[in-house]
Amino acid sequence: MEDLRVNSQSSLSDVDDLFRLLDRPRLNIERKRSFDERSFSEMGIMDSGINSPGGRSGWETPASSTRNSFEPHPMVAEAWDALRRSLVHFRGQPVGTIAAYDHASEEVLNYDQVFVRDFVPSALAFLMNGEPEIVKNFLLMTIQIQGREKRIDRFKLGEGAMPASFKVIHDPIKKTDTVIADFGESAIGRVAPVDSGFWWIILLRAYTKSTGDLSLADTPECQKGMRLILSLCLSEGFDTFPTLLCADGCSMVDRRMGVYGYPIEIQALFFMALRSAMSMLKHDTEGKEFMERISKRLHALSFHMRSYFWLDFQQLNDIYRYKTEEYSHTAVNKFNVIPDSIPEWVFDFMPLRGGYFIGNVSPARMDFRWFALGNCVAILASLATPEQSAAIMDLIEERWEELVGEMPVKICHPAIESHEWRIVTGCDPKNTRWSYHNGGSWPVLLWLLTAACIKTGRPQIARRAIDLAESRLLKDGWPEYYDGKSGRFIGKQARKFQTWSIAGYLVAKMMLEDPSHLGMISLEEDKQTKPVIKRSHSWT
Ligand code: GLC
Repeated sequence: MEDLRVNSQSSLSDVDDLFRLLDRPRLNIERKRSFDERSFSEMGIMDSGINSPGGRSGWETPASSTRNSFEPHPMVAEAWDALRRSLVHFRGQPVGTIAAYDHASEEVLNYDQVFVRDFVPSALAFLMNGEPEIVKNFLLMTIQIQGREKRIDRFKLGEGAMPASFKVIHDPIKKTDTVIADFGESAIGRVAPVDSGFWWIILLRAYTKSTGDLSLADTPECQKGMRLILSLCLSEGFDTFPTLLCADGCSMVDRRMGVYGYPIEIQALFFMALRSAMSMLKHDTEGKEFMERISKRLHALSFHMRSYFWLDFQQLNDIYRYKTEEYSHTAVNKFNVIPDSIPEWVFDFMPLRGGYFIGNVSPARMDFRWFALGNCVAILASLATPEQSAAIMDLIEERWEELVGEMPVKICHPAIESHEWRIVTGCDPKNTRWSYHNGGSWPVLLWLLTAACIKTGRPQIARRAIDLAESRLLKDGWPEYYDGKSGRFIGKQARKFQTWSIAGYLVAKMMLEDPSHLGMISLEEDKQTKPVIKRSHSWT
């Protein structure tokens, strides 16, 4: 198919292929194996992914049993109306939701586009509400866009790259709909989104799990789409680590924030996408080859993450006493982290009970910041062991003021300020301390927190967070983010009617009411990837 580019943006004008896919519910006649023969074990209804490590289940606590959580909150109907207003259509069919429906804002920028990552909570809300069609349309639309040739200036991007966002342009005269996608070539900072492809795979699994309809994942288009994404992220290079090397701003934090290297958000999504793909790839020659590569990578990745990204009191104490300049494979301080580089705040922040995956690990660098998305996804994907998952929830409880405050949920903690802010963000006026990506509070993260709470058997924590959100979200017009140390102020440049704030709230509510929804976004612990035995303390 011909590729047409408009103003350096990838444009999809020939949509017949897409319509073929959208219109025809495909039955894959090539499928030779039955449902049971597939490695689709996670699709079983039995697996809701709920566990209660440490026996601290909250299901019987007074907070959840005395309260009638099934009583519909007036905000729920408002949220559904707002979510439906954000729908984007392509030739009469819903294919996504725009990022923000904010008429008051003078600068639309790209908030009128369908972002892949932003659509995930919308998609989950629709799936939970028994409306899977839009999700199917979205998955097919984006896979079509993935197939285009994409260039930034004179450089051709990898074939499997998924767009950050796309826009449908209606021409009322010619009566045509055209899709224009952005792979980073128009985005501020020109960074390609690494998370989009991972979210796409995760969403395909959610769709399949929630509908029980294997035929979409089984289409040659979806199988190829998965393989292209996997080829990109599993390709061999100069890596010494199984983690994925990234540029700053390639995910939800899409501006320079010192998250280059091996950010936890990408590693957790990478892990979850690999496991999700594993459950959906066909057992044909190509599929099997990828499954082998995935299995090896998962093994190494879980070991690396659970050993080197994990921080708790004991671990912090070990790092504090690290020797440096060790040579050879016997080194304990493998990345040569200089203890003097440990920031002061982390000594006060780290409770005796609790732990988390830190923001980044690379040579001589540990970014000790807490990032909510990466830690919640690590729980959902079972990248965190049951003990680690419980410890992450302990930390959230122990450090509630810092990590949740008055509006759930803080994107990262703590904020960077002064000289560090100048150096790390390049003096970004949008990311000043305790604002936006720099320690701002994002209501969208409520769904991830809720899912993590349910999975670890602590719904009362989610209930507490939802109560906080309900006291303000609607009144404030569903802001994109809140500012301030405890998230009390509507964000300086926050959009109103931000779709993922709305959808995130709905997903959180629906999941808490019916925890069986969790299965579509949660993966059971893989018994084959053994939990890591704690590193020995060599200088005790
Ligand atoms: C901002 C956020 C990004 C989001 C986009 C659209 O750029 O940082 O994560 O996808 O807005 O809402």
